[in-house]
Amino acid sequence: MKILAIESSADETAAAVVENGTKVLSNVIASSTAMHEKYGGIVPEVAAREHLRSIIPTIDEALSQANVDMSAIDSLAVTVGPGLIGSLLIGVETAKTVAMATGKPIIPVNHVLAHMYANFIENTIAFPAISLVVSGGHTELFLMKSEQDLEWLGGTLDDAAGEAFDKTARLLGFGNQGGVAIQQAAKKSLPITLPRPLMHDGSLNFSFSGLKTAILREWKKQETHSEKFIQSLAYEVQEAITDVLVAKTLRASEKYKAKSILISGGVAANLRLRKKLPSAIAPPINLCTDNAVYIASYAFFRGKPVDWHELTAVPDLSVEV
Ligand code: KG4
Ligand code: ZN
Repeated sequence: MKILAIESSADETAAAVVENGTKVLSNVIASSTAMHEKYGGIVPEVAAREHLRSIIPTIDEALSQANVDMSAIDSLAVTVGPGLIGSLLIGVETAKTVAMATGKPIIPVNHVLAHMYANFIENTIAFPAISLVVSGGHTELFLMKSEQDLEWLGGTLDDAAGEAFDKTARLLGFGNQGGVAIQQAAKKSLPITLPRPLMHDGSLNFSFSGLKTAILREWKKQETHSEKFIQSLAYEVQEAITDVLVAKTLRASEKYKAKSILISGGVAANLRLRKKLPSAIAPPINLCTDNAVYIASYAFFRGKPVDWHELTAVPDLSVEV
């Protein structure tokens, strides 16, 4: 079964063709991240305009790289939320048009739940599994009893872990490069200690907004910001975030007697997190950040086709399944 998936929830326009949920025939991503650099974050209107420009060429390229045409595609899949309304609409309306024109089934996909199916591409998962989805907008823990059976266990009460990385990166002068820049700069030479919010509270929730305030306090304490200070702050931020993520994931794993631990989402690309959770299954780095491969994979394992007339973008689509 070959699925053509489309993803446009943030600033990446992506399309992919995946066979039986695991065999990647193509994976094409056009990003407008660089265009948002001078604004210090994603500008929704700019992202939407870029999606509009890129979406057809991206789909064409995904079919061409997979060496198939539409007649070989069994089903379409598209991200319907959560995400930016202007961005989502471009993907959803394009997918509806293709469904109408070709008569192919179409599967709506929840972007956040889909992230965890990046783990299915190269791995066989033993259930029950604990799955941490950690991205720019989400930090969520799920219990996976099977490929289809998900239960939301907890999530962030305020900011996502990726947001904490991104805001710190901007403060330290790394622009929109986010967590990767923090990872590259991280080097301990000066003693800085940041809090590990909710680490020992016994719940499966997270909170990262207090950490942001603490980081700002450290920054303001110094009159000048030497390279050593920036490296040390980057180090401690990465330690604080990853310590909390690891502690909560392991707690969930013990509580539910998990046979495997999965991590996914952009922050799962973080090498320190991967090192601190050696037993966890993680997608290849390029499948952690946004792409359409896991959209197709989710659609294969858990998706249900709908009539294209019923497909709508839902910017605040819930992840609490
Ligand atoms: O999953 P994703 O591409 O988009 C969302 O769905 O949000 O995640 C993007 C997030 C950003 O916050 C980015 O800074 C973070 O993933 N990220 C990283 C790394 N690579 C991407 N955070 C820490 N370390 C990394 N290596
Ligand atoms: Zn994402």
